[in-house]
Amino acid sequence: TSFIHRFIPSATGNSSRTLLLLHGTGGTENDLLDLGRLLDPNASLLSPRGKVLENGMSRYFRRLAEGIFDIADLTRRTYELSDFVEAASIAYDFDLRQVIAVGFSNGANIAASMLLLRPHMLSAAALLHPMVPFVPDTLPDLRNKPVFIGAGLADPLVPISETERLVQLLQRAGATISLHQHNGGHVISHEEVREARSWLRQFA
Ligand code: MLT
Repeated sequence: TSFIHRFIPSATGNSSRTLLLLHGTGGTENDLLDLGRLLDPNASLLSPRGKVLENGMSRYFRRLAEGIFDIADLTRRTYELSDFVEAASIAYDFDLRQVIAVGFSNGANIAASMLLLRPHMLSAAALLHPMVPFVPDTLPDLRNKPVFIGAGLADPLVPISETERLVQLLQRAGATISLHQHNGGHVISHEEVREARSWLRQFA
């Protein structure tokens, strides 16, 4: 359950919140540190590098093709990542009840999978350009879980219908969804960051 990772404690020491930063395919543990700081200047940041390699590119779980996931691997790795977060909370002494995932693309997909399989791990999640990771047989209880979803209306990887399917799935589980759509593609926009930032502040 060990991951190459960065942990940056709360800069001010006055936040017990930790952002779990999850990069996109081909990313590293350093990619989202600046984004994390922008989103919440006071939070601690925990940023693991995905352990699956696809043509040399790091990801959090295997896929058979673009958008077609190896669900057995995704399941196993979702639990492994959750166990890592638990172990890290002991090692770095952060509050496990205030972990908020911030994931982009492949990182958003495993964060969504955590919401479905290990809902207690996350108090909230910002999913930037996610897909439906899988549809569970039994829905988790996501009441009182704020979920921010960022989507691009011109995203070639994630059609609008896919975003809608994810919104509906999470809503059926009781999650409170804040959806931000921009006109661009599979990228995080400045406005999306601003929206995610004010979304996070609402329940600081
Ligand atoms: C995935 O594999 O998780 C999605 O296709 C997004 C990505 O390419 O990372």
